[in-house]
Amino acid sequence: MKKVKFTNLYKLLKNKSQIFRKINLLIKQSKFVGGEEVVNFEKKFAKYTRSKYCITVANGTDALEIALGSLKLKKGSEVILPVNTWISTAEAIVTNGLKPIFCDINLDDYSISLKDLKKKISRRTRAIIAVHLYGNPTNIFKIKKMIKNKNIKIIEDCAQAHGTTLGKRHVGTFGDVGTFSFFPGKNLGAFGDGGAIVTQTKSIWDYCLRARNHGASKKYDHKFSGRNSRLDTFNAAVLNIKLKSYSQVLKKRNELSRIYFKKFEGIEDIISYKLNKKNTHSFHQFVIRTKYRDKLANYLRMNNIQTMVHYPYMLNELKFFDKRKLINAENLGKKILSLPISEEHSKNEILYVAEKIRLFFKTL
Ligand SMILES: Cc1ncc(COP(=O)(O)O)c(C=O)c1O
Repeated sequence: MKKVKFTNLYKLLKNKSQIFRKINLLIKQSKFVGGEEVVNFEKKFAKYTRSKYCITVANGTDALEIALGSLKLKKGSEVILPVNTWISTAEAIVTNGLKPIFCDINLDDYSISLKDLKKKISRRTRAIIAVHLYGNPTNIFKIKKMIKNKNIKIIEDCAQAHGTTLGKRHVGTFGDVGTFSFFPGKNLGAFGDGGAIVTQTKSIWDYCLRARNHGASKKYDHKFSGRNSRLDTFNAAVLNIKLKSYSQVLKKRNELSRIYFKKFEGIEDIISYKLNKKNTHSFHQFVIRTKYRDKLANYLRMNNIQTMVHYPYMLNELKFFDKRKLINAENLGKKILSLPISEEHSKNEILYVAEKIRLFFKTL
């Protein structure tokens, strides 16, 4: 085996010629911002997630910021989020003038710990951001039950969870508003940054539509001071093409995950996910946990296998955030390792990676 890359974004593009033709046409027609491609993608993505409304934006961070803005929470209100997530989840809270409250995570699925969430909910809590990290769905039903009759909103950060379902419903449709990222490395990635917001609520849709476009839903119809956060036409065109075959991406990632699960059976020093058969996982990342993480990553590197860490720090370890200790998350960034998994990896490549890992633990 020559080299197993973590991802190869160029190789991931199955529909290159179709995409190049489309972009050529859009250039010829001088279509660069907005237009049919964007409107079509919003319709298709709303249909795909079975949401009433979809608003595209420039990236997943803006999606979170605008979505939180749509809830019109009083400045200084507390918003709870899991501590193991990309920094954008917390940034969106801060930029909205709200206070992030970090919550511990479960060690078997890395989603928000309900036990800790219960402790973190206070009189000041106005929203919870549930992050469907790595493509694994968070148990929104239990969160909803916990906040029943309380004035607390739910935002779902689905940046890593295109196609993930809880039961038969797509994530992002359980809370008040759901957000997505189409960053090139995501399962459904564009040719640059991109994002989307989904909701079932008309007033949220109206706010987001305007907020992404200088407060206007059509030219010169400004109702408030917004920003420019539009998904450009090329990226919408790329996403329209990629969405058509996205079910194959999910199928392949799930197939490859099964190789890892099977090969890691009986290796005591590896802990992988606990899956719930009622839900589906989009395997944006395949993450294992081991106390030998650095040694293993080194060994894999020597064998030409690339790995990554999502994330090497928990947000409460960043000095500008609240540093209060969380039991499960402590030192988690030193134990987790993301293994190669994508639709461009062959079964043989994943078998090779899994075999090497088996060998590592045998000879430890
Ligand atoms: C969980 C999570 N939330 C939000 C984002 C932000 O998305 P973007 O990079 O498109 O701004 C990301 C992207 O990495 C993410 O993984």
